[in-house]
Amino acid sequence: MRLTLATAFALAISPVFSQSGPAGTGEQMVLNSEHNVTSLEGTWSSGSRAVVTGAGFANPVNRTFTFPVNTGVSFSFLNSGFYEIAQYRFFGNGSAPNCITGTTTWEHGTFVILGNASIITTPFGDGFQQVQNPCLATSSFIQSYNYTGLYRSFRIFQDPVDGPKLQIANFDDSPVAPLFLVSATPSMLPTRPLINVTATAAASKRELKKRSAGERAWTSASAGALVLSLVTAAATSIIL
Ligand SMILES: *[C@@H]1O[C@H](CO)[C@@H](O)[C@H](O)[C@H]1NC(C)=O
Ligand SMILES: *[C@@H]1O[C@H](CO)[C@@H](O)[C@H](O)[C@H]1NC(C)=O
Ligand SMILES: *[C@@H]1O[C@H](CO)[C@@H](O)[C@H](O)[C@H]1NC(C)=O
Ligand SMILES: *[C@@H]1O[C@H](CO)[C@@H](O)[C@H](O)[C@H]1NC(C)=O
Repeated sequence: MRLTLATAFALAISPVFSQSGPAGTGEQMVLNSEHNVTSLEGTWSSGSRAVVTGAGFANPVNRTFTFPVNTGVSFSFLNSGFYEIAQYRFFGNGSAPNCITGTTTWEHGTFVILGNASIITTPFGDGFQQVQNPCLATSSFIQSYNYTGLYRSFRIFQDPVDGPKLQIANFDDSPVAPLFLVSATPSMLPTRPLINVTATAAASKRELKKRSAGERAWTSASAGALVLSLVTAAATSIIL
């Protein structure tokens, strides 16, 4: 392998990809047994393992998060082709040290592993993100999040202390924080869209009718969280 400046830099930031050369240096990454110390199936979490996918992190139906005690990222995979990603991050701002932005992100969907060991994730469309920054006019808001992912490569290593360790590279070959297997049985929300777009449109009409009839908004607890979210969605579509 010829050591160009770019290669040296890539090796410096991502030493684990050096064995068959980081993508982008002209060497071809191939899917082989190095990707298979264990299967991808399970729930993986970075650092302190504070962020874990599943019901303990996000509720897409009413678009709420349970904030973890620490930042981090978590991926879950099912061998049947479903994934879920949870992230809790802070971004500093050099020119305004008090203006730290926090983002909490959740999405799920289906994934495929290509022959060159890249992973493509296709979200269902019900993902969401909360952005918090005390310096913004709106210090906290929630928005839809529907990121179609290209993860250029992945490898699973056996760490002598931490066990299976998953190293994933982003679309630009920057590494995702190393992920450790927290559970071989993945902690995931149901692997289907959890907000029904068609139902939202239907609820929208129903809600409009109720409002024009001067009735109270349908927020009875017994109606369940799904209805609550549909009402919220309906309110949004009325504003739009
Ligand atoms: C969202 O739904 C969960 C589960 O039903 C509930 O515990 C939580 O209180 C709800 N949050 C809001 C803000 O409605
Ligand atoms: C950092 O803060 C400055 C001053 O408040 C602001 O203009 C800028 O957009 C911020 N940058 C980021 C990346 O948040
Ligand atoms: C989310 O992204 C997927 C894949 O790119 C796309 O098929 C889908 O229509 C998107 N959904 C929404 C609600 O934007
Ligand atoms: C693998 O193939 C996909 C689709 O052609 C491409 O987008 C991706 O960059 C490739 N990955 C690598 C590591 O070459």
